[in-house]
Amino acid sequence: MVQIVVVDRAGGERSIEAEAGLSLMEAIRDNGFDELLALCGGCCSCATCHVYVDSTAGMALPPISGDEDDLLDSSSSRSSNSRLSCQIPLGPELNGLRIVIAPED
Ligand code: FES
Repeated sequence: MVQIVVVDRAGGERSIEAEAGLSLMEAIRDNGFDELLALCGGCCSCATCHVYVDSTAGMALPPISGDEDDLLDSSSSRSSNSRLSCQIPLGPELNGLRIVIAPED
């Protein structure tokens, strides 16, 4: 299991555990964070799974793809630590990852 700390839009912080192999989006959604809409189901076509990643843990993340980069550009709340959570597979190297759910566009 991979432990992740999720901060919701109201600033509430909760630690969750998820199975390795799930995407970060699936882990957040399956733990009841309804504000992460993930409308396209993980196809990298909606950007409603936008999160901000803790900068230190960000070093272990997979590189951002062109499609993900383009979609993030469509968000008015993009930041240097923005990622689409459906594009991040969870593995042991991400244990302790801390993310903040980005504002709704
Ligand atoms: S769930 Fe749609 S882009 Fe991630």
